[in-house]
Amino acid sequence: MNVSDFDLVIRGGTVVTGTDTFRADIGVVGETITVVGEALEPGGGRIIEADGLLVMPGGIDSHCHIEQLQPDGSEYEDSFGHASAACFAGGTTSVITFAAQFKGQRLGPVLAEYHRRAARGMVDYSFHQIINDPFDAVIEQDVPEVVAAGIRSLKVFLTYDDVRLDDRQYLRVLAAARRAGALVTVHAENYDAIAWLTEALLKAGMTAPKYHAWSRPTVIETEATHRAIALAELVDQPIQIFHVSGPEPAAEIARARARGVKVWGETCPQYLVLSAADMDRPGFEGAKFICSPAPRGPAESEGLWDAIRAGTIDNISSDHSGHSFSIPGRGKRAHGTDVDFTKIPNGVPGLAARLPIVFSEGVSKGRIDAQTFVRLTASNPAKLFGLAPRKGTIAPGSDADLVLWDPAKKVTITNRLMQHAIDYTPYEGLEVTGWPVMTIARGRVVMKDDVVTAAPGSARFLPREPYAFITPRGVFPNGFDAAAIMI
Ligand code: URP
Ligand code: ZN
Ligand code: ZN
Repeated sequence: MNVSDFDLVIRGGTVVTGTDTFRADIGVVGETITVVGEALEPGGGRIIEADGLLVMPGGIDSHCHIEQLQPDGSEYEDSFGHASAACFAGGTTSVITFAAQFKGQRLGPVLAEYHRRAARGMVDYSFHQIINDPFDAVIEQDVPEVVAAGIRSLKVFLTYDDVRLDDRQYLRVLAAARRAGALVTVHAENYDAIAWLTEALLKAGMTAPKYHAWSRPTVIETEATHRAIALAELVDQPIQIFHVSGPEPAAEIARARARGVKVWGETCPQYLVLSAADMDRPGFEGAKFICSPAPRGPAESEGLWDAIRAGTIDNISSDHSGHSFSIPGRGKRAHGTDVDFTKIPNGVPGLAARLPIVFSEGVSKGRIDAQTFVRLTASNPAKLFGLAPRKGTIAPGSDADLVLWDPAKKVTITNRLMQHAIDYTPYEGLEVTGWPVMTIARGRVVMKDDVVTAAPGSARFLPREPYAFITPRGVFPNGFDAAAIMI
């Protein structure tokens, strides 16, 4: 075939999908891959030589907080523009971020506001609809409406003041999701246990950043993971557990999957390379690493790799949370530095670091192969969240979202390379082997050699149609389907 038939040919690379690795050329017309084949001849279209490089689907980051409003009136600091640049810098071409409902709010206006914000960016996007207040109108009218508008995932918190749901409310959301045909994603930590431990720590004068980890040990995550799954099983509603921090909560997922429950597990780079010891760095430095669940330690990280290889954890997101570090009155210093750990905002930035860390720690260190890397960072989130086959693979008909990857390139991570608006990265100084040298989003080169070139406003919303992957099993205790009756 002649390249003049194409707008773009990526020639001579090693194509890696979630299932195959092979040498091929990729022909693109407009925004779409039309041919994956051999010896596509040069002609009038643009040619990109990919000899010696891996050519993989652009990453999908299915858990990131961008321009998200907080109940206290603050906002995650990265705008959609900055976050898009960070995505492209790190080889990610699609995100699922959040539309956050607060107490008393109807979902329609909330979703409209986040659409307005996301459309200003460059990276393709969808949302998980956060439900913080499942009152009747939200459950009966709003959830079906947002799902019909293409938002096929809801998110709930089982902890955090002002946003957490109790078990009864969680059951309501699960039932509403099942009736509407959406997945539920869960932040699983035990609210009351954290509150009780926190009170004890503060009374004992244990207030430094490192006590954040003491306030939420693994057992409170394991308990909440078990409960989240048990209640989802009761309702027969598929769920994903967000940010699994170690092998113990992962074992809850594995046990449930073994009995057929539709539950999936996600982890993040912070649980693979950071640890509780980072929160014990001198002075206020430990604040940089405060996130929930708390990073554990090397043994837990290794246990997560076991869970990844076993297929229990099948998605690695960034949980990108933009809180700056050095600006007085903002981000991690919103309440100053002479404060107890409860006053320090949770979360770490990681959009651009995600793929390099997972590739380096996973593929370069021999823990997983490159196809598994693609499944964890692109193909599996595409399948789980209803974006496949448009996203997450390299095949005729799919969007031409590609990352060209130099598997041998050694880079020391530093904040300048992250291209977010945040003034630090928790991964500063981490050496990685393997780096994205070009990112292509819907046929456009949006990053080359760490330089991002994309037009603000070029983002596209990714509406998600009904999809079979999350179909409930039709199995209920005693054969009694309470969710069909309860509103
Ligand atoms: O500490 C974290 N993970 N902050 C972001 C919000 C969340 O819990 O996902
Ligand atoms: Zn969370
Ligand atoms: Zn999060």
